[in-house]
Amino acid sequence: MQDGYGRETEDLRISLTQRCNLDCVFCHMEGQLPSSLELTAEEIERCVIAATKVGVRRVKLTGGEPTLRSDLPEIVRRIAAHVEEVSMTTNGLLLDRLAVPLHEAGLRRVNVSLPSALPATYRRLTGGDGLPAALRGIRAAHAAGIFPMKLNVVVLAGITEQDAEREAIWEIAHEVGATLQFIEFEPVQGRVDGSIFRVLHAEITGLDSEVAGRAVQSERNPLHHRPRYTVPNGKGPMKIEIVRPLNNPEFCSACHRIRLTSYGALKGCLMTNEHLVETRPMLRDGATPDQLVPLFEQVIQHRRPFFRADTSATPSLELPLVARAVSGASPHLV
Ligand code: 5AD
Repeated sequence: MQDGYGRETEDLRISLTQRCNLDCVFCHMEGQLPSSLELTAEEIERCVIAATKVGVRRVKLTGGEPTLRSDLPEIVRRIAAHVEEVSMTTNGLLLDRLAVPLHEAGLRRVNVSLPSALPATYRRLTGGDGLPAALRGIRAAHAAGIFPMKLNVVVLAGITEQDAEREAIWEIAHEVGATLQFIEFEPVQGRVDGSIFRVLHAEITGLDSEVAGRAVQSERNPLHHRPRYTVPNGKGPMKIEIVRPLNNPEFCSACHRIRLTSYGALKGCLMTNEHLVETRPMLRDGATPDQLVPLFEQVIQHRRPFFRADTSATPSLELPLVARAVSGASPHLV
């Protein structure tokens, strides 16, 4: 089903929980309102079946940290029965023991958040000594045959551009044949406030041109129209994607994604909580997937690109908007 801007609905991003075993200073928490409520595996399956009826073909599981759900393999198995692809974004800390069961359940791709590949920086950014476990998880996913794998690197000022950092990240990506996905740091109302944004946001256009200049091949990932490059590296070719969402109408116009929050609200865009559609009351009343379809239609009808070429319609991302967000500078930032 198309929204009012001609965008098909193909992807569903599901937050399974807001619990996390890290505390990343940059985390946008998928733009969710805080809640400890979680849907059951069976409720999630009903939502996915309903989603397929409006065109959804791919599901990405996220959090919080999705691997904290003890029923994760069951969730993956239930979803995999209905869509072409189930993938997951994780910090990787628990992937070591979960990679094989998740692969058997039908998980086909994984994105592992790797804000840093240097132990001290990783600790400073995430609040924990999780790097060795994350690396074990990455290697376990590779060994289990979960492919392709992406390493998500949120580009942070003063951190990502360090030579030692880049080398360490490239090294691990090369070892497991992962695509490096550099993501622009985004402010999200209520989650990432103005002071953190001001300190850590780095323009990603320089990195984009640098990578483009070295690329032997360039293409576009259809989701969000993201540039994807193949870059020669001392050890062989490396795939790099650049995710530049901020003030980028092209990114929004190629967005085919809707979201289901951990507490069961349908959400049309990461950046806003306007027009949330609650599924929980109907789910708890035992609604069938067919009965849930109108809720999906409702969220799709209200979906609009957050950044549009018509700049007068583009919401201001000036700092006052961001600064109004809850101020929650994590103690381990400085
Ligand atoms: N800006 C951009 N990307 C972010 N992520 C988390 N917080 C932010 C943010 N503020 C990315 C991480 C994680 C994925 C779920 O979202 O890389 O892997």
